Amino acid sequence: MRAHARAACWTICGWTVFTTAFVAGLGLMAYQALHGNGTSGDVVLTIVVATSLHQTVQNTANYTAETANSGTYIEPYLWLRKYIGNLSTGSGTVQPSQSLTTGIVFEDVSFRYHGTEGKALDGVSAALDAGSVVAIVGEYGSGKTTMAKLLNKFYTPDTGRILVDGVDMQMLVTASWRERISATFQDFGRFRTKMSEGIGLGDLAHIDDAARIQSAAEFACVDELIERLPDGLSSQLGRALGGVELSEGQWQRVALARGAMRERPLLFMLDEPTASLDAAAERAVYERYMERARRIGRDYGAVTVIVSHRFSTVRSADKILVMQGGRLVEMGTHVELLALNGLYAELYSIHESAYQT
Ligand SMILES: Nc1ncnc2c1ncn2[C@@H]1O[C@H](COP(=O)(O)OP(=O)(O)O)[C@@H](O)[C@H]1O
Ligand SMILES: [Mg+2]
Repeated sequence: MRAHARAACWTICGWTVFTTAFVAGLGLMAYQALHGNGTSGDVVLTIVVATSLHQTVQNTANYTAETANSGTYIEPYLWLRKYIGNLSTGSGTVQPSQSLTTGIVFEDVSFRYHGTEGKALDGVSAALDAGSVVAIVGEYGSGKTTMAKLLNKFYTPDTGRILVDGVDMQMLVTASWRERISATFQDFGRFRTKMSEGIGLGDLAHIDDAARIQSAAEFACVDELIERLPDGLSSQLGRALGGVELSEGQWQRVALARGAMRERPLLFMLDEPTASLDAAAERAVYERYMERARRIGRDYGAVTVIVSHRFSTVRSADKILVMQGGRLVEMGTHVELLALNGLYAELYSIHESAYQT
């Protein structure tokens, strides 16, 4: 408001100066015309010149203001570029290997989000063995997504380490590590691109690889949707850009396909990626994912991490981590955890009874 008030003052000053000068100029010309030093044409000319001068000055002022305003958008963009630049230069120098032999280990990892009080993760230690499928369960806000983000090296643990085949993740080249991850997040992106790009973005090097995109689409059961689109894979997404608008479940499928673009991920990760799918579609997606998880686990030791509320998926995992308030409270197989009769057993019985009713 202060800026607006200041701008209004300047505008009034400007108008006052202009009006005064205009009236004075006009008066002068009229005076001269009346005394035979000019013609009525001169008076008209004065009006025309003054008007066009006013227009020019106003346009210049407007354009200057607009240019200054665009700084508002450029500044955060430049900040972001610098931030990302620092991230990659701040990354390690070790290249991740082609396969995993021991796996990924959380070693007493704690993490607190900037500007918050409580720890999102508190002293988590767990081994995600090479070639295994690990499920993470727990109530909302228990730290499941935070673990997923740390695995992707989006943040650095405050204390403790995450080891990838014995190498501290901080020592890994960040970009290279991410290139070895195939992930679909809970808060997936809804990119207003062409359909092919929306999927291809999952592996930038192959964004034009039609065959790869097609198989990723089939894998995530998004191929039927593509067939129904006006231009197939070339269809523009997002009404804002004149394209088709997708439903929440359809955006989710695109995100799943994007997460299936990489062929040899060391870490295969799903963070509750099926919330908007119906039960049948969800089962189909999970079946494919488990099959892929088993295959890449067997072939070269890839680790699969699945965050899910669906116990039919969770129970087939090799290891289940049960989170509560940022702490890892239970860990084991479905059978072991049921026998423990703790939090997992409680969550499971709630789920079972809800399912039966
Ligand atoms: N970006 C963030 N900034 C601040 N706090 C966050 C952020 N993301 C998550 N949290 C907090 O961290 C805790 C764990 O969240 P999260 O890992 O997303 O839980 P879950 O995935 O199990 O639901 C919660 O208390 C949540 O409020
Ligand atoms: Mg979450």
